[in-house]
Amino acid sequence: MRRTMVAGNWKMYGTRASVAELLSGLGQLALPDSVDVAVIPPSLFINQAIAELHGTSIAVGAQNCAVEANQGALTGEIASSQLVDAGCTLVLVGHSERRQVIGETDEVLCRKFAAAQASGLVPVLCIGETLEQREAGKTLEVVGAQLSSVIAAVGIEAFTSAVVAYEPVWAIGTGLTASPQQAQEVHAAIRSQLAKESAEVARGVRLLYGGSVKAANAVELFGMPDIDGGLIGGASLNADEFGAICRAAGN
Ligand code: PGA
Repeated sequence: MRRTMVAGNWKMYGTRASVAELLSGLGQLALPDSVDVAVIPPSLFINQAIAELHGTSIAVGAQNCAVEANQGALTGEIASSQLVDAGCTLVLVGHSERRQVIGETDEVLCRKFAAAQASGLVPVLCIGETLEQREAGKTLEVVGAQLSSVIAAVGIEAFTSAVVAYEPVWAIGTGLTASPQQAQEVHAAIRSQLAKESAEVARGVRLLYGGSVKAANAVELFGMPDIDGGLIGGASLNADEFGAICRAAGN
């Protein structure tokens, strides 16, 4: 059985004061034992999150890591081994905002995926189509190509300790959510693509849905057979809302 996972991507949000308030709210949540819960703050707040959430079941991840696993001369970057040293257990790789705004390519994010795993972090690989691509009927082709470039670079076995997040770009931060059926269709395609390489890996890998998930739509989304939880942006900045989403994942 795959354990459900809910991860809160705080993106570039937060001040010392708002993060302290959010962490204190998260620390008071009663979370279901059956769900792996994580928060992914801006790197500036990783230490604070790890200190404040110590003793809770909430894991802490990073939004990005360097292409190199080891520390070195690479100004402005953070090595995956440094994230592990800080206490992180996972890292986002290939979020659409990084692909689109920063210009992160498949080649770069494949190196980040490999560096993360070399350090013992679980990469959460984000893939998804734009509205234009969906309207052109290219969703499965685009998502399939994003996934296959990573499989080609790191090998199928790497997915035994990775998570994949399907995040349609048109649903991120827009209030538009993929319907449970639309999301399930893509999740099933992702799992069958992985199954072509290894049925066992495909059965075990967790596929998260991301894109305007809220407490109000989480139950239906998480009820789909190939949706194993969520990557939550905006709604993860409110502890009570995030807690409600985690409880929805526990049902
Ligand atoms: P959203 O973001 O929940 O605010 O749509 C999801 C994400 O980008 O991970």
